[in-house]
Amino acid sequence: MSSVETPAGPAAELLDVDLERVVAGLPKVSLHCHLIGSGEAETIVDLARKHDVVLDGGRTAEDLFDHAGYEDLDEFLRVLDVAGSVIRDVDDFHRVAYESLTRGGAAHNVLYREIFLSPPGHPGVPYRTILDGVRAGMRDAEADTGIRSNLIVGLNRNDSAAAASELVDIVIENRVDEVLGIGLDYSEAIGPPEKFWKAFRRAGEAGLNRTAHSESGPPHHIETILDLLGCSRVDHGYHVVDDPDITRRCVEERVPFTCTPVSSDIGRYSGSGDGTHLRIKQMIDAGLVVTIDSDDPPMFGTDPTHDFRVLARALGYGLDQLAALTMNGVEATWLDAADKAALAARARTMIGALEPGAQGLR
Ligand code: ADE
Ligand code: ZN
Repeated sequence: MSSVETPAGPAAELLDVDLERVVAGLPKVSLHCHLIGSGEAETIVDLARKHDVVLDGGRTAEDLFDHAGYEDLDEFLRVLDVAGSVIRDVDDFHRVAYESLTRGGAAHNVLYREIFLSPPGHPGVPYRTILDGVRAGMRDAEADTGIRSNLIVGLNRNDSAAAASELVDIVIENRVDEVLGIGLDYSEAIGPPEKFWKAFRRAGEAGLNRTAHSESGPPHHIETILDLLGCSRVDHGYHVVDDPDITRRCVEERVPFTCTPVSSDIGRYSGSGDGTHLRIKQMIDAGLVVTIDSDDPPMFGTDPTHDFRVLARALGYGLDQLAALTMNGVEATWLDAADKAALAARARTMIGALEPGAQGLR
């Protein structure tokens, strides 16, 4: 529940109507969304049928993603692997990418997304197959809706350091313009960031951008991610606020943090698990460059609009604060300066149209 005092009765209803208009219309920049985790339950069930796979003991679209039932990150990652295992051929990757970018993106005014791929989550599938399908889905989604997108290849930290380095080699050998960089996800407890320094060094030498998840780890993981892995962003990073020195440094260097309110609240990484989004509030109040996204939307019962909605309700935010989070997202993209400026201009125009005084002008 929100700790912010809000009026009751008709005034509250009016506030809600206005909040709905703002969160739905807000332009969004999506920097923390996993391809597998954005597969719709119906699609995953369909693909399982297509490939003759019985899903996780016979689960259906209704009970595939039981977000309240993920005991912990490991249980969530197990279900993620079940979903990834049935996304296999070029058509499958096209479909999941297209649906994620259109119904799961453009329909929520996501203007631009950097999508995490997880090649190890599709055992036996060649990297080229993933790229061919996803890139075709990205092109079709842009043609149909205007949404732009690029890719981040996620290394699985549950795997060995050698396997992660091999994947970086594959990325470099199969270089395409859309792959802007690499990430690091799955279990931080199993794979601390320093374990992957060689893979990240190789990626850096090849000119790839770098980011890494740190949802539950201690604040010094953030320093390792920045200094040893050479990352220019941090995914989640909620424990930064436990260390005032590291927080100050990240504020000064304008290190972006890609926060995901709904999934992190369910996973209790943001510290609360009670809907207060306390750590995200502390990060914003400290002056950190916070961006908002929805991680694995259908798997956590959310979408890009809903993540802004829950945060706005919990923290009492209106258009100005939400727009600032979107503009942080523009700054945090790995786009070049010209594309970033164009994205910023589009976002500003849409934000301007949401200002109360602008409504009569439409
Ligand atoms: N892979 C997909 N979503 C993830 C998350 N929230 N944490 C770690 N790895 C992930
Ligand atoms: Zn994530």
